[in-house]
Amino acid sequence: MYSYIRRFREGDYSGICHLEIQEKGATYPSSVFIRQASILYPSTFLVAELNGTLAGYCIGAFCEGGRSGAWILRLRVAPPCRRRRIGSDLVTTLLDIFLQRGVADVYLSVSPENYAARNLYHTLGFRGISFQKGYFGDGEDRIIMAAQLNHGQE
Ligand SMILES: CC(C)(COP(=O)(O)OP(=O)(O)OC[C@H]1O[C@@H](n2cnc3c(N)ncnc32)[C@H](O)[C@@H]1OP(=O)(O)O)[C@@H](O)C(=O)NCCC(=O)NCCS
Repeated sequence: MYSYIRRFREGDYSGICHLEIQEKGATYPSSVFIRQASILYPSTFLVAELNGTLAGYCIGAFCEGGRSGAWILRLRVAPPCRRRRIGSDLVTTLLDIFLQRGVADVYLSVSPENYAARNLYHTLGFRGISFQKGYFGDGEDRIIMAAQLNHGQE
């Protein structure tokens, strides 16, 4: 097995939209967001390849306004490629980029029922900092998780 993480390329677009279609059924909002994210976040839109095939992606974004914060906006690994540390590698690579760019605090939102993602993030040092009822609308509660990046200070 040969997997690696790289930046998004234009040719990835339909493959990533397909990942969303496979799992969710509702495609339009995802395809719009993925297109916009590829324009806005070229350095933090990462793709995982496994044996030359798109296996997952994650999208990060820096906070504006002079704060040293950033968010993980998306993370998905194709179902047949899961439990091979691809999700962890994507997030770890993204955190390295954030670190190099001076980010101190990284945030994300995750569904309370999404134990796979919560476990992954917990393993990488994220902790829940708040529970947001209806964060994405009715019935769409989310936990906000955060991690502090280590810039080598004591
Ligand atoms: C969550 C997701 C990204 C994990 O990707 P992955 O490549 O399978 O994760 P990894 O192999 O790196 O797993 C790392 C750790 O996360 C945890 N984990 C991952 N999947 C898990 C599962 N199904 N159940 C419990 N823990 C899980 C484990 O602690 C795992 O370590 P281990 O395999 O040594 O036990 C993937 O399941 C996915 O794409 N889910 C659908 C989209 C999603 O929920 N995205 C996150 C939105 S916030």
